[in-house]
Amino acid sequence: MATLSPKERAELMKELTSRVQNAIKNIHNVVIVMSGKGGVGKSITSASLALALNKLGFRVNILDADVHGPSIPWLLGVEHERMIADEDGRILPVDAGGVGVVSVELAMDRKELPLIWRGPLKTRAILDLLSMVKWGDLDYLVVDLPPGTGDEAQTVARYLSSKRPLGVLVMTPGRMVSHIVVKAKNFAKIVGLDLLGVVVNMSYFRCPYCGRTTKVFGEFKDVGIEILAELPLDPEISRAADSGQLREIFAKPERSEWVSSIMKIAGKLVNAVGRP
Ligand SMILES: Nc1ncnc2c1ncn2[C@@H]1O[C@H](COP(=O)(O)OP(=O)(O)OP(=O)(O)O)[C@@H](O)[C@H]1O
Ligand SMILES: [Mg+2]
Repeated sequence: MATLSPKERAELMKELTSRVQNAIKNIHNVVIVMSGKGGVGKSITSASLALALNKLGFRVNILDADVHGPSIPWLLGVEHERMIADEDGRILPVDAGGVGVVSVELAMDRKELPLIWRGPLKTRAILDLLSMVKWGDLDYLVVDLPPGTGDEAQTVARYLSSKRPLGVLVMTPGRMVSHIVVKAKNFAKIVGLDLLGVVVNMSYFRCPYCGRTTKVFGEFKDVGIEILAELPLDPEISRAADSGQLREIFAKPERSEWVSSIMKIAGKLVNAVGRP
């Protein structure tokens, strides 16, 4: 794209925009999970939210928009799979127990190699995924963004804006995280993304022996938007995430605090979009 003239570039972007809009036309709702800050639990929240919405009976796909550090396939235990194309050349999401997963990671032959891509290439990769995937008739597309408000966030917010997406911010307690999350909140305002609210992850640890809670990372700082849920710091969740067994946590008959809280967020989301 760097060698194109401004006119050629404008035409290419117009063409891509129309292909993206055509490909996503049957996606009914989009949820964008973001933070600004790294390592706060965006991916685990996105994957859990997708599982929760699926558990409520909705058709859900998840787009891993983190091209440098894709983690959704790992959290859902499909990291060794590969997306394949149908006879029309449309890419098929990888099935993770009912949730379709789309990630650059699932298109790579050598997953240990990094993608040394800058802005335009990252934008192009996301647009290629958006336009080439066979999304089908979907109730929800959950998008997991990388940290920051850079290329990926801007591309997703811009090209999915026709779906009037709802944003979910993720933060952990502490002043510094809140400061960066406010940047993401302001980013949402600038790009016209409506925010559903903020999830406070790792808000507390409940002692498995006495049941008392400890605020390991201190109190969270109000960022001026609705708190959707406070999620526990839970070693079982981190073990499940690390072994790609997040699905199993949601399949258990008894609901852990994690699952209950995520189901609560999913319920708020469903109410907010006004769907059954
Ligand atoms: N509530 C929690 N309890 C236990 N472990 C957690 C919890 N939330 C997140 N983790 C763990 O913390 C790590 C970071 O989580 P995750 O990858 O979801 O963060 P992220 O915000 O997506 O990071 P990045 O900015 O790198 O994309 C993971 O190993 C995850 O399993
Ligand atoms: Mg992540």
